[in-house]
Amino acid sequence: MTILIRPFESGDLDSVVQIENQVFTTPWSKQSFLDCSRWPEFWFRVAEQNKKVVGYFVAQVVPPEAELHNIAVDPAFQKKGVGRLLLSHLLTEIKKVGVKDVFLLVRPSNIAAIHLYQQFEFCLLDKRPRYYEDTKEDALIFYKALDT
Ligand SMILES: CC(C)(COP(=O)(O)OP(=O)(O)OC[C@H]1O[C@@H](n2cnc3c(N)ncnc32)[C@H](O)[C@@H]1OP(=O)(O)O)[C@@H](O)C(=O)NCCC(=O)NCCS
Repeated sequence: MTILIRPFESGDLDSVVQIENQVFTTPWSKQSFLDCSRWPEFWFRVAEQNKKVVGYFVAQVVPPEAELHNIAVDPAFQKKGVGRLLLSHLLTEIKKVGVKDVFLLVRPSNIAAIHLYQQFEFCLLDKRPRYYEDTKEDALIFYKALDT
């Protein structure tokens, strides 16, 4: 399947929010995505297949650091390599602008995401106790150093 990764456009908003609501128990609002799309330090990219948005990520990029705030793939398109493509794109592009350290938070129960991050050699840096309000789960802080 041919996947294009490109910057978010306003016409993608409904598709993004639809995916977001399907995959997260505490989804971002439409307004949160719009706010991120207006700030250059937030990189908001979508994965498109045949003109259909099938995934996205939002990362805050302030070299030498970046934080991945959101990444998701439409359930109908999961386990086909789209998440890997999105993360690979992000890591390649942020390296070009001088990012050295990448951080993200993930729920310990999110096995799919943890496996994805481990594939890219993210490692566990720390925990934020009872970070998630709905389940009171800790947040795992994952970190990756980008080689020069
Ligand atoms: C996490 C997510 C983005 C992965 O996207 P995806 O397109 O399904 O992932 P890929 O097909 O690219 O898989 C890449 C790797 O992720 C891991 N992975 C993906 N789905 C998995 C699953 N259901 N169980 C275990 N590992 C999984 C595997 O290591 C996989 O590599 P492999 O194919 O060699 O086994 C997707 O599951 C998703 O949208 N989840 C809901 C949103 C979410 O939790 N986002 C992360 C918040 S921290």
